[in-house]
Amino acid sequence: MNTTIKRIGVLTSGGDAPGMNAAVRAVVRSASYFNVECIAIYQGYQGLIDDKTKVMNARSVNNIINKGGTILKSARCLEFRTKEGRKQAFETIKKHEIDGLVVIGGDGSFTGAMIFQSEFKIPVIGIPGTIDNDIFGTSHTIGYDTALNTVIDAIDKIRDTAISHNRLFFVEVMGRDAGHIALNAGIGAGAEEVLIPEENLGLERLLESLQRSKKSGKSSSIVVIAEGDKSGKNVFQIAEHIEKNLPYYEVRVSVLGHMQRGGSPSCFDRVLASRMGVFAVESLLNGSSNVMVGLDNGEMILTPLEKAIKTKSEINKNLIRVSDILSV
Ligand code: F6P
Repeated sequence: MNTTIKRIGVLTSGGDAPGMNAAVRAVVRSASYFNVECIAIYQGYQGLIDDKTKVMNARSVNNIINKGGTILKSARCLEFRTKEGRKQAFETIKKHEIDGLVVIGGDGSFTGAMIFQSEFKIPVIGIPGTIDNDIFGTSHTIGYDTALNTVIDAIDKIRDTAISHNRLFFVEVMGRDAGHIALNAGIGAGAEEVLIPEENLGLERLLESLQRSKKSGKSSSIVVIAEGDKSGKNVFQIAEHIEKNLPYYEVRVSVLGHMQRGGSPSCFDRVLASRMGVFAVESLLNGSSNVMVGLDNGEMILTPLEKAIKTKSEINKNLIRVSDILSV
């Protein structure tokens, strides 16, 4: 272990995700295990700029493993994008003699971490926490599994009412520019069609598919649309387009929104967050910096932050085929 690190800081940044608390707990407890002090920084990089900090010990993170959101609060901090803001943030680092920083967040947060590291030479390590699963270097980000389960739960409920009224539902899900949530939840919830940003097949194909399913005897249907879909129309416009062209469908729209980010984390996310937190602290103490921890084939790995940010996390194209085949 690298003995030069005596005190580490931990923060959560960007959109919150279920399991962030489990990751905070794992970082704080691992620090305690290795006799390193741990300082919590509140409200992401904003807390670093404003010196909103608290010394943590193993007991500070009791009873949070099951909690959604983040006890450290989160923010998308515009000030940290400025050199001035980062200088101010480094003052807090110096004041509290923080020798290494653990950043739990998504690609925006990692971009900030990378710049901060290069400017002030403070060792940083990233833990991927976002429901979008859009980060290269890990098969799963913290919060993604819980969000998927939240989405299929919601769609199961929508299905009940869709069946009762013989309706066609368009359900918009989150994911920013990635279709991981839409595609996986779409298959898991038995959606008729899934529209994702990675494959723009055009609205004609959707029309044809819905015509086919009507002919085949389906009385209700669910179409899942990723918020970043590139068809050029939003979910309401798509619904209108279908209603106009296929008037025999009674159409409704449901935008699931931020409920996808809440809730108690699934067991998968709790275990993932716990493993990532331990591995992040161990790696930091062993001298790693400017890297992100990730899950690869069941094992913990490290990926340079730059690669994690700049490389696209591909969707599994086989899933598109599975979805197509099963909507016959
Ligand atoms: O990155 C997580 C996410 O929930 C995206 O899926 C979504 O596009 C975005 O954050 C919403 O951000 P905000 O909470 O700032 O509205």
